[in-house]
Amino acid sequence: MDKRKVLIHGADTRGQKLVKRINSIFDIVGFIERDPGIRNAAGSEYACYRDISEFMRDTDGEGGIDFILSIVEDFNGLQREYMNKGIPFHKILDLRHVHQYEKHILHQCLANEIHRRNVPGSVAELGVDFGDTAKYINLYFPDRTCYLFDTFRGFDKRDIDPTQARTSELLEYYDVRSTAGDVLDKMFYPEKCVVKEGYFPESLDGLEDRFAFVHIDCDLYKPITAGLEYFYPRLNYGGL
Ligand SMILES: C[S@@+](CC[C@H](N)C(=O)[O-])C[C@H]1O[C@@H](n2cnc3c(N)ncnc32)[C@H](O)[C@@H]1O
Repeated sequence: MDKRKVLIHGADTRGQKLVKRINSIFDIVGFIERDPGIRNAAGSEYACYRDISEFMRDTDGEGGIDFILSIVEDFNGLQREYMNKGIPFHKILDLRHVHQYEKHILHQCLANEIHRRNVPGSVAELGVDFGDTAKYINLYFPDRTCYLFDTFRGFDKRDIDPTQARTSELLEYYDVRSTAGDVLDKMFYPEKCVVKEGYFPESLDGLEDRFAFVHIDCDLYKPITAGLEYFYPRLNYGGL
């Protein structure tokens, strides 16, 4: 399937770095940049538009854009501006103020590499919690099955070992949970998601698939080990 077309709002150093992290994931159509100095310095690899009106004039409408990726500080102001120009809310994404920024940046790099190498396979997250990482895994792999593994009730007592560091602190933190439905509502492509609700590894329920990308993030020794034992032999060559 064709890559999703994106415009990047902001052609400064952050924008240039973002391009390098996502150029295999998306079809980058160009930048929007208000500052003429930055616009001129941005180089000629990608088109650089003064504003969305100029882009729309040049492309006769929205130019088939799927998303506008923002890296600016004032995202709310930007969103208002775009919506006033008739760009729908769901097309304007804030990639600056994301959940756990460093982890997000790492996932961008890994997803980009998997696309660059054309590694086939599904994607998965073990330990989804509120879905704030899973939604970007889904965004960066739009055409792949995305498995979402979680109890959606926090830790299971079978995994609790009070002798392990930080266990009581973690138990307290995971008191409040989101539902699988709430998580699915956040996804960009919910139709590609398969919710595997319940205790891992029981929730595998005989699942057989091959994977390109798996994020294991369930805090405790037992489910992390079970995750490695299940996923590692099913990871395709070049997968991460
Ligand atoms: C650190 S949170 C996940 C955070 C999420 N990956 C993110 O980036 O926002 C850990 C999650 O692992 C889940 N979890 C822990 N043990 C599990 C098990 N044995 N089976 C399924 N889910 C488990 C918990 O319910 C919790 O939601």
